[in-house]
Amino acid sequence: ERLVIAIDGPSGSGKSSTARGVAKKLGLAYLDTGAMYRAATRLVLDSGVDTGDADAVAALIEAADIASTLEPSDPAIAINGTDVTEAIREPAVSAAVSSVATNLAVRANLIARQRAIIGGTRKGIVAEGRDITTVVAPEAPVRVLLVADPAARVARRQAELGEKATSAEVTDQVIRRDRDDSTVAAFTEAADGVVVVDSTHLSLPEVIDVIVGLARR
Ligand code: CDP
Repeated sequence: ERLVIAIDGPSGSGKSSTARGVAKKLGLAYLDTGAMYRAATRLVLDSGVDTGDADAVAALIEAADIASTLEPSDPAIAINGTDVTEAIREPAVSAAVSSVATNLAVRANLIARQRAIIGGTRKGIVAEGRDITTVVAPEAPVRVLLVADPAARVARRQAELGEKATSAEVTDQVIRRDRDDSTVAAFTEAADGVVVVDSTHLSLPEVIDVIVGLARR
């Protein structure tokens, strides 16, 4: 039986660690759709195309080859044959990704790719992002919106970035991206049938167990 688990949530909600943990526990594939938007953004920045030129940005991304490993213990992503797993986490990408992700032609292209990946996995998949429960896989039998208080999300992102960023920078990144992404999807409100899981006071293993429990129901 193929199982699709859709997880959405804002920056720092812990959705990537959670989705990977759930996929490992249930033996499913794992898709980080945010990594696809980040890889597309990396390509735009590296190619010198003006991020404000919506048509050129869309054409560049539509023509690109994007390959994700779908491996929860070792997720990696390449664009046009170049591994960008590390390079998509750089601050320049975080700063520019919302502008690429709000390009409707880019979204249509990446959503189609994501649906094909989800439909193509034999054993099933955990897919995470901003619009998986609502747009990419609204028919998924398990759909979760992972939320957490802004302070908890900032603290988590700070722990991930460590010395590389000051707390003011991290706060700005998380809060600004909440705002910049707000046109993408109503990811702070759960659609019908989507289970809200608040991770503010839960540990990672606890959140994973809640979602595994939903899948086994
Ligand atoms: O860094 P963070 O975990 O917040 O985000 P991410 O999952 O790596 O996604 C990076 C960016 O990609 C988001 O801020 C959105 O602009 C965009 N995104 C999107 O528009 N739709 C998705 N399904 C996933 C990500």
